[in-house]
Amino acid sequence: TPIAVLISGTGSNLAALLRSSEEPSSPFVVVGVIADRDASGLEHARAAGIPTEVIRLADHADRAAWDQALADSVARLEPQLVVLAGFMKLVGPPLLEAFGGRIVNTHPALLPSFPGAHGVRDALAHGVKITGATVIEVDAGVDTGRILAQVAVEVRAEDTEHDLHERIKAVEQPLLVEVVSELTADRQDGSATAS
Ligand code: GRF
Repeated sequence: TPIAVLISGTGSNLAALLRSSEEPSSPFVVVGVIADRDASGLEHARAAGIPTEVIRLADHADRAAWDQALADSVARLEPQLVVLAGFMKLVGPPLLEAFGGRIVNTHPALLPSFPGAHGVRDALAHGVKITGATVIEVDAGVDTGRILAQVAVEVRAEDTEHDLHERIKAVEQPLLVEVVSELTADRQDGSATAS
């Protein structure tokens, strides 16, 4: 089952997906990686020989034009599932219309607590003792979609934002791989029945 991955950062979640996809039993294959900036994580895709593309907001007339360009590029990859793996922009109506219900996102907090760009920092500032990672189905809101899976991480008294984020990433990566595997295995079964 083909998947497209969208990133903005170091791509550790992308790397976990790529490693998993290389296992013979993997139900999914990464057919393209798209970033909104020169994300260092694109290297993981290049090293694996997977097509990459950078679609910058600054290269487009306005946000709507960027939204459309992003949706067009994703559509050209013909993925069954779109995975936002540290993609730091909200996806607009064109992508949601084309892939509604088939876009997932990973977030470094236990949603619905601490949505937005600073989930780790906000959880620390609030003084919670437990936070974690959440994989959601993407809708038009900011981290408001249906919760697909969650895992908890304890906050330590001495934690910096970096330390805590690293421990969250350690559980976030296998969680994302698990959800993507389940969703794409379902689609494989579905197409097998249909044909
Ligand atoms: C992840 O924790 C993601 O949930 C958050 O940013 C991080 C991205 O990490 N929004 P990476 O680029 O996958 O290494």
